[in-house]
Amino acid sequence: MIRPIIVANWKMNKNTQEAISFFKEFCTDPTVSSGQVSCIVCPATTLLHTAASYADTPNLSIGGQNLNEKEKGAFTGEISGTMLRDAGCKFVLVGHSERRHLYRESSDLVAKKAFAAAHANLIPIVCVGETLVDRQGNKTFQVIRTQLNALFNEAPFLASFIVAYEPVWAIGTGQVATPEQAQEVHAFIRQLLVERLGEKGRLISLLYGGSVTPENAKSLLTQPDIEGALVGGASLQAASFLQIIHEGARLC
Ligand code: PGA
Repeated sequence: MIRPIIVANWKMNKNTQEAISFFKEFCTDPTVSSGQVSCIVCPATTLLHTAASYADTPNLSIGGQNLNEKEKGAFTGEISGTMLRDAGCKFVLVGHSERRHLYRESSDLVAKKAFAAAHANLIPIVCVGETLVDRQGNKTFQVIRTQLNALFNEAPFLASFIVAYEPVWAIGTGQVATPEQAQEVHAFIRQLLVERLGEKGRLISLLYGGSVTPENAKSLLTQPDIEGALVGGASLQAASFLQIIHEGARLC
Protein backbone atom coordinates (compact mmCIF):
# COMPACT_ATOMS: atom_id res chain seq x y z
CA MET A 1 0.00 0.00 0.00
CA ILE A 2 1.17 3.55 -0.68
CA ARG A 3 1.74 5.81 2.32
CA PRO A 4 -1.70 6.38 3.89
CA ILE A 5 -2.95 9.92 4.47
CA ILE A 6 -4.79 10.34 7.76
CA VAL A 7 -6.59 13.66 8.28
CA ALA A 8 -8.04 15.08 11.51
CA ASN A 9 -11.06 17.33 11.12
CA TRP A 10 -11.57 19.05 14.45
CA LYS A 11 -14.60 21.03 13.25
CA MET A 12 -15.70 23.73 15.78
CA ASN A 13 -13.87 22.24 18.77
CA LYS A 14 -10.91 23.01 21.05
CA ASN A 15 -9.35 26.12 22.56
CA THR A 16 -5.65 26.98 22.40
CA GLN A 17 -4.73 25.09 25.55
CA GLU A 18 -6.49 21.94 24.36
CA ALA A 19 -4.76 22.19 20.98
CA ILE A 20 -1.36 22.54 22.64
CA SER A 21 -2.01 19.46 24.83
CA PHE A 22 -2.99 17.50 21.73
CA PHE A 23 0.11 18.46 19.77
CA LYS A 24 2.48 17.87 22.70
CA GLU A 25 1.26 14.29 22.94
CA PHE A 26 0.84 13.74 19.21
CA CYS A 27 4.16 15.12 17.99
CA THR A 28 6.28 13.04 20.35
CA ASP A 29 4.86 9.75 19.06
CA PRO A 30 7.64 8.08 17.03
CA THR A 31 5.20 6.75 14.41
CA VAL A 32 4.27 10.31 13.43
CA SER A 33 7.84 11.23 12.53
CA SER A 34 8.62 7.77 11.10
CA GLY A 35 7.25 8.77 7.72
CA GLN A 36 4.97 5.75 7.34
CA VAL A 37 1.84 7.89 7.41
CA SER A 38 1.16 11.38 6.14
CA CYS A 39 -0.70 13.21 8.95
CA ILE A 40 -2.80 16.32 8.41
CA VAL A 41 -4.62 18.22 11.17
CA CYS A 42 -7.39 20.66 10.22
CA PRO A 43 -8.19 22.82 13.26
CA ALA A 44 -10.53 25.79 13.65
CA THR A 45 -9.18 29.02 12.18
CA THR A 46 -8.33 30.48 15.62
CA LEU A 47 -5.96 27.56 16.22
CA LEU A 48 -4.06 27.69 12.93
CA HIS A 49 -1.08 29.64 14.25
CA THR A 50 -0.74 27.34 17.25
CA ALA A 51 -1.04 24.29 15.00
CA ALA A 52 1.45 25.71 12.50
CA SER A 53 4.04 26.05 15.26
CA TYR A 54 4.10 22.21 15.39
CA ALA A 55 4.26 21.77 11.63
CA ASP A 56 8.02 21.28 11.65
CA THR A 57 7.23 17.79 13.01
CA PRO A 58 8.12 15.48 10.12
CA ASN A 59 5.07 14.19 8.22
CA LEU A 60 2.64 16.56 9.94
CA SER A 61 0.86 19.20 7.89
CA ILE A 62 -1.85 21.67 8.77
CA GLY A 63 -5.05 22.26 6.83
CA GLY A 64 -7.97 24.67 6.87
CA GLN A 65 -11.57 23.48 7.12
CA ASN A 66 -13.04 25.83 4.53
CA LEU A 67 -12.15 28.85 2.39
CA ASN A 68 -13.89 31.51 0.38
CA GLU A 69 -13.77 31.16 -3.39
CA LYS A 70 -12.57 34.77 -3.77
CA GLU A 71 -9.01 35.92 -3.22
CA LYS A 72 -9.80 38.95 -1.05
CA GLY A 73 -12.28 41.75 -0.52
CA ALA A 74 -15.40 42.75 1.40
CA PHE A 75 -16.56 39.33 2.60
CA THR A 76 -16.98 39.79 6.36
CA GLY A 77 -16.19 36.68 8.36
CA GLU A 78 -14.61 34.78 5.48
CA ILE A 79 -11.07 33.53 4.95
CA SER A 80 -9.18 33.17 1.67
CA GLY A 81 -6.80 30.52 0.42
CA THR A 82 -3.84 32.91 0.56
CA MET A 83 -4.68 33.69 4.21
CA LEU A 84 -4.71 29.97 5.03
CA ARG A 85 -1.42 29.54 3.24
CA ASP A 86 -0.02 32.52 5.14
CA ALA A 87 -1.16 30.91 8.42
CA GLY A 88 0.86 27.77 7.62
CA CYS A 89 -1.67 25.52 5.86
CA LYS A 90 -0.78 23.22 3.00
CA PHE A 91 -4.24 21.64 2.64
CA VAL A 92 -7.86 22.70 2.93
CA LEU A 93 -11.11 20.75 3.15
CA VAL A 94 -13.70 21.77 0.60
CA GLY A 95 -17.28 20.59 0.22
CA HIS A 96 -17.50 18.87 3.58
CA SER A 97 -21.08 17.63 3.91
CA GLU A 98 -21.66 20.04 6.82
CA ARG A 99 -20.81 22.89 4.43
CA ARG A 100 -22.92 21.43 1.63
CA HIS A 101 -25.96 20.77 3.82
CA LEU A 102 -25.89 23.34 6.66
CA TYR A 103 -24.56 26.21 4.54
CA ARG A 104 -26.14 25.17 1.24
CA GLU A 105 -22.86 24.99 -0.69
CA SER A 106 -23.55 23.71 -4.20
CA SER A 107 -21.20 21.43 -6.12
CA ASP A 108 -20.41 24.38 -8.42
CA LEU A 109 -19.36 26.50 -5.44
CA VAL A 110 -17.31 23.61 -4.04
CA ALA A 111 -15.51 23.35 -7.39
CA LYS A 112 -14.79 27.09 -7.34
CA LYS A 113 -13.37 26.73 -3.84
CA ALA A 114 -11.15 23.85 -4.96
CA PHE A 115 -9.88 26.02 -7.78
CA ALA A 116 -9.28 28.95 -5.37
CA ALA A 117 -7.38 26.60 -3.06
CA ALA A 118 -5.11 25.39 -5.86
CA HIS A 119 -4.57 28.99 -6.96
CA ALA A 120 -3.34 29.76 -3.41
CA ASN A 121 -0.96 26.81 -3.57
CA LEU A 122 -3.05 24.67 -1.23
CA ILE A 123 -4.05 21.08 -1.93
CA PRO A 124 -7.84 20.81 -1.71
CA ILE A 125 -9.35 17.75 -0.04
CA VAL A 126 -12.65 17.57 -1.88
CA CYS A 127 -15.39 15.80 0.07
CA VAL A 128 -18.21 13.96 -1.69
CA GLY A 129 -20.91 11.69 -0.39
CA GLU A 130 -24.55 10.67 -0.57
CA THR A 131 -27.32 11.08 2.01
CA LEU A 132 -29.25 8.15 3.42
CA VAL A 133 -32.19 9.03 1.15
CA ASP A 134 -29.87 8.98 -1.87
CA ARG A 135 -28.51 5.57 -0.86
CA GLN A 136 -31.94 4.12 -0.18
CA GLY A 137 -33.08 5.42 -3.59
CA ASN A 138 -30.09 3.74 -5.29
CA LYS A 139 -28.73 7.14 -6.25
CA THR A 140 -25.29 6.90 -4.62
CA PHE A 141 -23.28 6.68 -7.85
CA GLN A 142 -25.37 9.33 -9.57
CA VAL A 143 -24.85 11.78 -6.67
CA ILE A 144 -21.11 11.17 -6.52
CA ARG A 145 -20.80 11.55 -10.29
CA THR A 146 -22.68 14.88 -10.21
CA GLN A 147 -20.54 16.20 -7.35
CA LEU A 148 -17.31 15.24 -9.13
CA ASN A 149 -18.47 16.43 -12.57
CA ALA A 150 -18.82 19.94 -11.18
CA LEU A 151 -15.23 19.70 -10.03
CA PHE A 152 -14.01 18.53 -13.44
CA ASN A 153 -15.97 21.25 -15.26
CA GLU A 154 -14.84 24.14 -13.10
CA ALA A 155 -11.31 23.09 -12.35
CA PRO A 156 -9.90 20.89 -15.10
CA PHE A 157 -6.41 22.18 -14.46
CA LEU A 158 -6.11 21.48 -10.74
CA ALA A 159 -2.51 20.47 -10.25
CA SER A 160 -3.24 18.25 -7.33
CA PHE A 161 -6.20 17.31 -5.18
CA ILE A 162 -7.44 14.61 -2.85
CA VAL A 163 -10.95 13.14 -2.80
CA ALA A 164 -12.60 12.13 0.47
CA TYR A 165 -15.66 9.89 0.21
CA GLU A 166 -17.84 10.61 3.23
CA PRO A 167 -21.33 9.12 3.18
CA VAL A 168 -23.44 11.75 4.96
CA TRP A 169 -25.31 9.07 6.91
CA ALA A 170 -22.02 7.87 8.44
CA ILE A 171 -20.71 11.25 9.64
CA GLY A 172 -20.82 11.66 13.40
CA THR A 173 -23.46 8.94 13.68
CA GLY A 174 -21.33 5.96 14.71
CA GLN A 175 -22.87 4.21 11.68
CA VAL A 176 -19.77 3.48 9.63
CA ALA A 177 -20.03 2.21 6.04
CA THR A 178 -18.98 -1.42 5.81
CA PRO A 179 -15.54 -1.84 4.20
CA GLU A 180 -17.32 -3.37 1.18
CA GLN A 181 -19.74 -0.43 0.84
CA ALA A 182 -16.87 2.05 1.10
CA GLN A 183 -14.66 0.09 -1.33
CA GLU A 184 -17.49 -0.11 -3.89
CA VAL A 185 -17.81 3.68 -4.00
CA HIS A 186 -14.05 4.22 -3.93
CA ALA A 187 -13.65 1.92 -6.95
CA PHE A 188 -16.37 3.92 -8.71
CA ILE A 189 -14.62 7.22 -7.91
CA ARG A 190 -11.30 5.82 -9.15
CA GLN A 191 -12.96 4.78 -12.42
CA LEU A 192 -14.47 8.27 -12.85
CA LEU A 193 -11.13 9.94 -12.17
CA VAL A 194 -9.38 7.77 -14.75
CA GLU A 195 -12.16 8.35 -17.29
CA ARG A 196 -11.85 12.11 -16.89
CA LEU A 197 -8.15 12.60 -16.15
CA GLY A 198 -6.49 9.59 -17.74
CA GLU A 199 -3.46 8.14 -15.96
CA LYS A 200 -3.30 11.18 -13.66
CA GLY A 201 -6.58 9.94 -12.19
CA ARG A 202 -4.77 6.96 -10.72
CA LEU A 203 -2.52 9.27 -8.70
CA ILE A 204 -5.31 11.09 -6.85
CA SER A 205 -5.49 9.84 -3.25
CA LEU A 206 -8.90 8.62 -2.09
CA LEU A 207 -9.80 8.86 1.60
CA TYR A 208 -12.76 7.42 3.47
CA GLY A 209 -14.52 9.44 6.19
CA GLY A 210 -17.51 8.84 8.44
CA SER A 211 -17.28 7.38 11.97
CA VAL A 212 -13.71 6.11 11.52
CA THR A 213 -12.40 4.82 14.87
CA PRO A 214 -9.32 2.92 16.06
CA GLU A 215 -11.48 -0.23 15.98
CA ASN A 216 -12.65 -0.04 12.37
CA ALA A 217 -9.66 1.75 10.79
CA LYS A 218 -7.80 -1.41 9.79
CA SER A 219 -10.72 -3.04 7.96
CA LEU A 220 -11.30 0.19 6.00
CA LEU A 221 -7.67 0.97 5.24
CA THR A 222 -7.01 -2.52 3.89
CA GLN A 223 -9.51 -2.04 1.04
CA PRO A 224 -7.70 -1.72 -2.30
CA ASP A 225 -8.98 1.76 -3.20
CA ILE A 226 -8.98 3.32 0.29
CA GLU A 227 -5.74 5.20 0.76
CA GLY A 228 -6.41 7.03 3.97
CA ALA A 229 -9.04 8.41 6.31
CA LEU A 230 -10.74 11.68 7.22
CA VAL A 231 -11.47 11.48 10.93
CA GLY A 232 -13.79 13.74 12.93
CA GLY A 233 -14.77 12.67 16.45
CA ALA A 234 -11.94 10.17 16.94
CA SER A 235 -9.34 12.82 16.03
CA LEU A 236 -10.13 15.07 18.99
CA GLN A 237 -8.11 13.01 21.45
CA ALA A 238 -4.45 12.50 20.57
CA ALA A 239 -4.58 8.93 21.90
CA SER A 240 -7.38 7.74 19.64
CA PHE A 241 -6.10 9.63 16.60
CA LEU A 242 -2.66 8.09 17.19
CA GLN A 243 -4.20 4.61 17.29
CA ILE A 244 -5.62 5.24 13.82
CA ILE A 245 -2.21 6.49 12.63
CA HIS A 246 -0.64 3.32 14.04
CA GLU A 247 -3.13 1.17 12.10
CA GLY A 248 -2.15 3.03 8.93
CA ALA A 249 1.56 2.61 9.67
CA ARG A 250 1.18 -1.16 10.15
CA LEU A 251 -0.13 -1.47 6.58
CA CYS A 252 2.99 -0.01 4.99
P1 PGA B 1 -16.73 11.63 12.11
O1 PGA B 1 -16.58 12.89 11.14
O2 PGA B 1 -15.44 10.86 12.06
O3 PGA B 1 -17.00 12.22 13.46
O4 PGA B 1 -17.88 10.84 11.58
C1 PGA B 1 -15.92 12.78 9.91
C2 PGA B 1 -15.98 14.09 9.17
O5 PGA B 1 -16.97 14.81 9.32
O6 PGA B 1 -15.06 14.44 8.42
